[in-house]
Amino acid sequence: MIIAVDGPAASGKGTIARALARHYALPHLDTGLLYRAVARRLLDDGSDPADQDAAAAACDFDDALLGDPRLKADDAGKVASIVSAHPAVRAALIERQKRFARQDGGAVLDGRDIGTVIAPDADAKLFVRATSAIRARRRHDELRKAGSALSYDRVLADLKARDLRDTTRAAAPLRQAPDAVALDTSFLSVESAISHAIEIVERCR
Ligand code: C5P
Repeated sequence: MIIAVDGPAASGKGTIARALARHYALPHLDTGLLYRAVARRLLDDGSDPADQDAAAAACDFDDALLGDPRLKADDAGKVASIVSAHPAVRAALIERQKRFARQDGGAVLDGRDIGTVIAPDADAKLFVRATSAIRARRRHDELRKAGSALSYDRVLADLKARDLRDTTRAAAPLRQAPDAVALDTSFLSVESAISHAIEIVERCR
């Protein structure tokens, strides 16, 4: 069984994808980490993320980089949304993701284009959303706990800029697949979001 989970930043898609993977004992890939890894390499080299050739060259990285805690930082997320708009970057990372989705027994993948591009034949597709104010509140709380002093307003503005880049780019923009089921987590606890997600998968399989 292949489960595709898409949605914008801080919608809860990562938490839901991890819980589904645990529930169904499936391997899980957070595909945002791939774009964050490319971003991290460019940040470390001082390369311009707008330079498509430099970004494409940075796609040839070892899986070990995916465990680097610095990939979770805000700068890597912001630069990831710039590099992910380059068609050459998406092309370089697509096969890795498709291979993960095709493995025996199935998989759970979360990202922006899983249901539309990476696994259009997924058995269950969820599109996770939440209002931008609530997503910014969640992200701000996370960052504060990690020691960041960024203001809520700044986090909200960054999130909106990221949403705009992710939804308006020409290459694999963030959008709900026609056969995906929407799940709005704005007013749900983590536990009820997860049980709704399991119900959706049960209905689809
Ligand atoms: O999900 P996460 O916030 O880690 O993703 C970081 C960035 O990577 C996103 O803003 C998006 O631009 C890009 N991304 C993407 N396609 C995916 C996953 C992430 O374009 N499947």
